[in-house]
Amino acid sequence: MLLKKYIKNRRKLKILFLLTVIVLIVITVVILNISPNVNSTERVLDERFIARIYGGSGGGGGGSGMSGGRLEQPPLKSPRQNGVIVPEKYDEHKLKTRIAQERVLQLKQEQQQQHNAIEAGEEHAKLEATTTGVHIFYSAPVAWYKTKKSQLVAPRVQLRGAAKELLNDVSDAVLSSSFATSATTLTTTVKPVRILNTAFYPALGLYKPTTSLLQKHFDNIHNCGIGVLILSCSGKSGEVALYRELLELAPSYNLSITFEISVAGNQSLEFLQQQLEALRRYSTAESFYRVYSLSRKRLVPVIYVSNAYKLSDTPAGRAMCPSQAESLRNLFDGYFIGHIRLKNHVDIMRRLCFEGFYNKLPSNGATFASTWKNWSYLKSYALTYKMLFVPTVGPGFAERNKFPRHGDIQRHRSNGRYYGVAWRTAILNHVGFINIASYNNWPDGSQIEEVMPKAGFLDYNPGAKTKYIDLTTHWVVNFLKTRHEAAAAVAVPGQPSCYEFLNNTIC
Ligand SMILES: *[C@@H]1O[C@H](CO)[C@@H](O)[C@H](O)[C@H]1NC(C)=O
Ligand SMILES: *[C@@H]1O[C@H](CO)[C@@H](O)[C@H](O)[C@H]1NC(C)=O
Ligand SMILES: *[C@@H]1O[C@H](CO)[C@@H](O)[C@H](O)[C@H]1NC(C)=O
Ligand SMILES: *[C@@H]1O[C@H](CO)[C@@H](O)[C@H](O)[C@H]1NC(C)=O
Repeated sequence: MLLKKYIKNRRKLKILFLLTVIVLIVITVVILNISPNVNSTERVLDERFIARIYGGSGGGGGGSGMSGGRLEQPPLKSPRQNGVIVPEKYDEHKLKTRIAQERVLQLKQEQQQQHNAIEAGEEHAKLEATTTGVHIFYSAPVAWYKTKKSQLVAPRVQLRGAAKELLNDVSDAVLSSSFATSATTLTTTVKPVRILNTAFYPALGLYKPTTSLLQKHFDNIHNCGIGVLILSCSGKSGEVALYRELLELAPSYNLSITFEISVAGNQSLEFLQQQLEALRRYSTAESFYRVYSLSRKRLVPVIYVSNAYKLSDTPAGRAMCPSQAESLRNLFDGYFIGHIRLKNHVDIMRRLCFEGFYNKLPSNGATFASTWKNWSYLKSYALTYKMLFVPTVGPGFAERNKFPRHGDIQRHRSNGRYYGVAWRTAILNHVGFINIASYNNWPDGSQIEEVMPKAGFLDYNPGAKTKYIDLTTHWVVNFLKTRHEAAAAVAVPGQPSCYEFLNNTIC
C-alpha cells in the first residue's frame, strides 16, 4: 500500500533511491577506510602489550632487565612470523614474577628517595651546625622524682594515702617495685616517698648524666643545628663538677654553654651577688657563650635571669645598672636577658638595664609574654629600645603533678602542630635569637628528647620517637633561611648590620 503510494509519486521514489545509494556509499567507504586503521591500532597495542608483559622475561631470567636500581625498558623481542606477531600464551607464573619484580623495584626506589631526603636533611643540619641563634634549655641531672616534703614528718595514715596515690598514678613495674622497697623501710624509718615526676617516659630510661649519655645528647643537639645550651645555675656545690664536664665536652660538638640564674626565691642583693660569683667560676671556659658587642668592643657573655621581673624596686634590681656606684656589672658584666610574664614587665627590664627579655614558659596564652600573638608587640618594643626579645618556643607542656602550678598551663602537643605554630610565629617576627624549652625538662613535659611508649605514659604517637628532634631540625633550618633573607633585605653596604646578629655580633 505504502510502496504503491510512493511508486505513484515518482519524485518521492527518486529521493528514496538517492538516499539508498548515499547510505551504501557511506557504508562502503567506512568499511574500506576504517577497518585497516582499526587493524593497525590493534597491532600497535598488541606489540606494546606483549613487550610489556613478556619482553623483559622473554629471554628467561627477567632479572637482567634491572641494573643500577632502574628497570631498563627491554627491546621489542616479540616472536614474529612473516612480520606478524605471534602472541605468546598467557603464563601465570611469568606474570606473577613480573608483578613481584615491579613491587620490589618500586620499594627500592621509594627507599632510595627517602635515603636521599635524609642525607640532604642531615647535610643541611650539619652545614648550619654552629648557629648560635638557637638556644635550648638543658637539664643535668633531670629531677625524675618528686619528693613530697610533707612526708618527711608525716604519720603513717598519710603515707598510706600517698602510696595509694602513687600506685594509681603510675602503672609501672619499676615504680611499684621502688614503692615496695620504700614501703618496707617505711615501717622502720620515715623516709620520703619518691614519686615519678614525668608524664612521658624517656627512651633512654631514667638516666643519670654519664659521659657517654652527655655525648649522645650533645650529638643530637648538634645535629639539630642548635649551637647553645642553657643550664640552670643554682650555685650548689654538687653541680660544679658536672657543669665543668659539660663545658669541657661542648667544644667537640661545636656547642657553647650559657646559664640561667634564678631569683625566684630570693631577691636580695647578696643572693644575686652569690649567683653571679657562681657564674664567674665557669666564665674562663672556652665554650662559655659570648657575643661580640659593637658598642662595648669586646666579647660579652649572654646570661638568662629567671623571674627577673621580681627584681623591680629592689636594691638588687637597681644594682643591675652600670651607672650605679655599686653596680653588679663590676662583678660580672654580660648581656642579661630577663624573664618576663606581664606586659609592664618589659618596662621593668628596661628600667633595670637588662639588655633583653624572654618568656620562659612555653604555654601559649598562659601569660602575656607567652602568648604568641603578643610577640609582635614584644619584638617592636625590643626594636624601639634596642633590646633583645628572645621568644621561648616549646613542643607542649605536660606536668604530671597532683598539685599543678597556678593557672592552666598544660598544652597538648597536637601531633607537632603546637610546636610548629610557636616556631612559625617566632620566625615571622624576625627575632635574632630563639630559645627552646626544652631538650630534656621531663618534669615539665616540654622535652624534645626521644620517648618510649609505655603503659600509663604519654608518647609521641603517631610518629617516630625522634619526632620532635626531627621537627626541631626542620624549624632551625627554616629559621636560618628566613633570618638570612631578612638580614640581606635590610643590609646597608659598608655599615655593620646589627639587625639580625648573624655572626654573633650585637650592637
Ligand atoms: C665545627 O665547626 C667547624 C668550623 O665551623 C667545622 O670545621 C667542624 O667540622 C665542626 N665540627 C663538628 C663536629 O661539626
Ligand atoms: C637570701 O639570700 C641571702 C644570701 O644567701 C640570705 O642571707 C637570705 O637569708 C636569703 N633570704 C631569704 C628570704 O631566703
Ligand atoms: C596578649 O595576650 C593576652 C592573653 O594573655 C590577650 O588577652 C591580649 O589581648 C594580648 N594582647 C595583645 C596586644 O595582643
Ligand atoms: C661580624 O659582623 C660585623 C658587622 O657586620 C663585622 O664588623 C664583624 O667584623 C663581623 N665579625 C666576624 C667575626 O665576622
